[in-house]
Order: sequence, then structure tokens, then C-alpha cells
Amino acid sequence: MLKVGVVGLGLWGQNHPMVYDDYHRSELSVVCDLDEEKARTVAEKYRCDWTTDITELAHSDIPAFSVATPDHAHFAPASTLLEAGKHILIEKPLTTDLSEAQKLAELADRSNSMSMVDFHQRWNPQWAMIKDSVEAGEIGESVMGYIRLSDAIEVAESWLSWAGKSGPHWFLFPHTMDIMRWVIGQEPRRVFASGHRGVLAAKGVDTWDCIQAIVEFDTCRITFETSWIVPNANPSVTDCHMTLYGSTGKIEYDQDFAGISFTTDKHRYPWVPLGKKDRYGRLDHFMYAPMRYFVDCVLDGVPPQCTIADGLANVAMIDAVLRSLETGQPADISVT
Ligand SMILES: NC(=O)c1ccc[n+]([C@@H]2O[C@H](COP(=O)([O-])OP(=O)(O)OC[C@H]3O[C@@H](n4cnc5c(N)ncnc54)[C@H](O)[C@@H]3O)[C@@H](O)[C@H]2O)c1
Repeated sequence: MLKVGVVGLGLWGQNHPMVYDDYHRSELSVVCDLDEEKARTVAEKYRCDWTTDITELAHSDIPAFSVATPDHAHFAPASTLLEAGKHILIEKPLTTDLSEAQKLAELADRSNSMSMVDFHQRWNPQWAMIKDSVEAGEIGESVMGYIRLSDAIEVAESWLSWAGKSGPHWFLFPHTMDIMRWVIGQEPRRVFASGHRGVLAAKGVDTWDCIQAIVEFDTCRITFETSWIVPNANPSVTDCHMTLYGSTGKIEYDQDFAGISFTTDKHRYPWVPLGKKDRYGRLDHFMYAPMRYFVDCVLDGVPPQCTIADGLANVAMIDAVLRSLETGQPADISVT
């Protein structure tokens, strides 16, 4: 059994202790949050230790940690833990600052730790099928793609207290930019981006409303769209569609509508049943797989997928989007 700790116990972060507590190869040893009440409550739920002090974790004998603090607050806990030689599973985005991401990548390189970023869409069976098809050459060479991942405005307005320090680009592009880079197996070279601000700013959330970014990869160009102003009446909190054209074929994926809808007080597409076991008592959703995979990698000594280097490449793409937005010109992307 691997002893594991979790830093950051918010809306999403609480999935990590739940999975480590449930998995037969891990033992949830400690949870940490700046909010003492939250740390104590989660620790009571899972009968583990708690702290508000990251340095205590660095000096502990616990070898592995999840970091699920807000987007802009990954660097401090992640660097402290990496410097202490701990294995870390860090939430996306790796950081919201390219130089911080580079420092984490250097620290990960210097240590022997098995560190990874939680790009959980790589465990989504549909995305895995798409990657298999592209790798098998079923659509020939990837030529052009489109992917949109947006959120209902309630995510920016009321889910995240730190929304103004992030944005749809830091919160949602990490998923789509990682998945398309992974699917086509190519590196991004250049981006041209355009965006809009004002709707969220008028509501006190000072960030981008929406961004469109055309990224040129080796042989393929992909348009990435993201927005945080989708009406709350949308049938799903997220809005995700993908098309990929190859030289001999095409793949389309509508990630929101799985062929099932419910209409009661609202017309809705059901979202993942996060935070609850299935009727057979198992935590089986693919979004929980990266936590178990991380434990397996550490215990079995297998270098993980979704490395800190992948996280750095991801941040480099988003950083280039922001540079292009600032200058109105294409921006080069350097993923190393
Ligand atoms: N993989 C995914 O699909 C997915 C989904 C949602 C969110 N996320 C990511 O997970 C991270 C957390 O999101 P969330 O929704 O749980 O946020 P949240 O705001 O609900 O919770 C963040 C928690 O971190 C705590 N915190 C802040 N700084 C800290 C520090 N230095 N040390 C310890 N605790 C600290 C806060 O007190 C808070 O309890 C974000 O990076 C987010 O983008 C990932």
C-alpha cells in the first residue's frame, strides 16, 4: 500500500482523497488545506491526519501527494514537495505561468520522482478510441481539426472563488490542448488567437469571456475554442465538440450528448456521476483512473504518462495564445 496525501480539498480536489481512500493499493494518510475547517472535516470523513502546513508534508515519511489547489496556486506546494523528493500528481493546468512551469519541469527532471499532471481525458474511452484510430492510420494524415470546450457561466460566476485569476484558457484549454496534441502525436509550432472580454468583467470576474486560437502543428492545424459565458440553460455544464479531418477520413465527437437526455424542470444531458459510487459499490468513472494509475506507477516503478513535460508543453501553448492575444500577431510555441 502506498501512503498518499492530498493538498487542496475543494470542489474538485475532494475527488482525490475519495479515490485514495477507496483504492486497495493506497492509504490516504493526510489531507492539507489552508482552510482548517475543510482540512479537519475531510480528515474526519476518511479518518486520516490533517494539516494546514505544507512544510509538515515535505518533512513527513509520506512519499506521494496530489496537488489540487487553485490554478494559480499550484507552484508553491508542487515545488515544495518536488524539492523534498516526493512523487506528485498535480491538477491541470501545471501552472498559470510559463517560468513557474519550467521550474517545476527542472525540479521533476532532477528528482527521481514519478510525477504527472491530471489530464484525465486521456482515460476517457472515447478519446482513447479516437487516438487508436488516428495511430492506426484510419483517417490518414491529420490535416485539420476543431475542438470546443466551454463552460456554463455559473462556473465563472459561482463555482470558483478564484475565477478572475484563471479563465477559460487556463481552466479548459489544458484539456483540449493536451488531448489533441496526444491524439495527433504532433507538436504545436505557432498560434494565432483572438478573443473577447467584457461580459465576465462586468460581473466582477476580470478574465476572458471567450478565445479562438488556431494552432499549427507539424502537418495539422487545429482551431481551439473556449468560453466561460455559455448560458446556464445549456443542457450540460460543459459544451464540447470535436472534428478531426485526415487525408482519407474524418472523426467527430460530441462529448456532451451521449444519446441520453432528461427533461424535468430543465432539459439536461447528464454529467458524470462524480463523487458517488455506482450501484455495485465501485468508484468506476474514468476521471478517477489517473489517481489509481499514479499509485500504480509509484508502486511498480513505471514512469507515468502525462508527465510534467507534457504539462509544460501545455502551459507553453496557452502562454503563446496569450502572447498572440496581446500583440494581435501569430506567436511561436516552444514546447521545451
Ligand atoms: N481534472 C479536472 O477535470 C479538473 C476539474 C475541475 C478542477 N480541476 C482543477 O483542480 C484544481 C482545484 O479545483 P477546485 O475546483 O477543487 O478548486 P476550489 O476552489 O474548490 O478548491 C481549492 C482549495 O485549495 C485550497 N488552497 C488554496 N491554496 C492552498 C495552498 N497553498 N495549500 C493548501 N490548500 C490550498 C483552498 O482553501 C480550497 O479549499 C484546479 O487547478 C482546477 O483547475 C481539475
